[in-house]
Amino acid sequence: MSCILLLGASGMLGSSLAIKLKAAGHDVIRQSRADGYDIKLDLLSNQAWVDCLAKIQPETVVNLAAATNVDQCELNPQWAFDANIAPLLCLRGAFRSIDKLPHIVHISTDQVYDGTGPHSEAHVRPCNSYGLSKLAAELVIKDLPSTIIRTNFFGLSQTQGRQSFSDWIIKSIKSRKQITLFEDVFFSAIHMNTLCEFISLAIDKKTLGTFNVGSSDGMSKSVFGLRLASLLGLGTSSIRIGSVKELDLRARRPLDMRMDTTCFQDKFSVSTPTLSTEINQAADEYLG
Ligand SMILES: NC(=O)c1ccc[n+]([C@@H]2O[C@H](COP(=O)([O-])OP(=O)(O)OC[C@H]3O[C@@H](n4cnc5c(N)ncnc54)[C@H](OP(=O)(O)O)[C@@H]3O)[C@@H](O)[C@H]2O)c1
Repeated sequence: MSCILLLGASGMLGSSLAIKLKAAGHDVIRQSRADGYDIKLDLLSNQAWVDCLAKIQPETVVNLAAATNVDQCELNPQWAFDANIAPLLCLRGAFRSIDKLPHIVHISTDQVYDGTGPHSEAHVRPCNSYGLSKLAAELVIKDLPSTIIRTNFFGLSQTQGRQSFSDWIIKSIKSRKQITLFEDVFFSAIHMNTLCEFISLAIDKKTLGTFNVGSSDGMSKSVFGLRLASLLGLGTSSIRIGSVKELDLRARRPLDMRMDTTCFQDKFSVSTPTLSTEINQAADEYLG
C-alpha cells in the first residue's frame, strides 16, 4: 500500500480519515502543528517542503489543512491566505526540486458556489473570503497532478473542540439551547464516513480534475435538522425555523450550495447517496 502525507490530520475530517486510511493498509504520515502527530512540517517554508518530500517520498499528499472559520476569514483575509493558499504555493514551488511528483488530493468546499443550485463544477462564484481563498487554492494546484474535491460533510466529530453541523444540532437540543435552523439555506452534504470512502477512492484511482462530492440531492438546513432530530427521538421545541437573513453575520453565506455530482459519479463509476440516506447513517452513528 502507498505512503500518504496527510496535512491537517488533527482536524475534524483528518482524525477520521487517518483511521480509515490506516485501516485500508496505507502508510499514513500525519502532519499537524500540534504535538502528538508524525510530522510538524512548516507549511509556509519552501525548504521544509523540499526536505519533507525528498525524505518521505509520498505517493499522495492529501491536503485538509485550512482556516475553516468563515467569519474569521472575512475579518482577516491575510489569515485565510496564509492557511488556505500559501501552503499550496510552497508545495508548488517544492515540486520544481523533485523528480517524482506525488498525486495531490485537495479538499475544497461547496462555498465556492453562489446562486441557485445544483451547481456544476464550471460555475464558481464565491461570495466570501473563505470561499475565495479556497477557490484560489484550487487554482494554484489545478495544473499539477491533482484531484480537487469540493464537498460539505457532517457526522460525529472525533476531534475535541470541533463539532460538525449535526453535532451542534444534537448538542443544542439535548442541552435545551434555542437554535435557529435556516429554511432558506440548501446544501448537499454527505456523511464524513462516505466522504472518507470517496477520498480513499480518489487516492486509489488517481483520476485528475475537480469534482463535486456530495449527496445526490440536497435539502434545506431546517429539514435536515428536523429529520435528524426525529430519527433520534429528540424533541424539537428548542428548534426555531428561520431565515439566514435575520442574522447579522460578518461573512455573507451562499443560500444554495447544492452540487451536481454527475461528473464525479461518471469518472469514478460510483453512485452518490441521497442526503436522507446520509442522515440515516448519522442517526445510527449517534444512537450507537
Ligand atoms: N467542516 C466542514 O463542514 C467543511 C465543509 C466543506 C469543506 N471543508 C474543508 O474540509 C477540510 C477539512 O475541514 P475540517 O472541518 O476537518 O477542518 P478543521 O477541523 O478546522 O481542521 C483544519 C486543520 O487545518 C490546520 N490548520 C488550521 N489553520 C491552519 C493554519 N493557519 N496553517 C496551517 N494549518 C492550519 C489545523 O491543524 P493544526 O492546527 O493542528 O496544525 C487543523 O487540523 C478543509 O479544507 C475545509 O476547508 C470542511
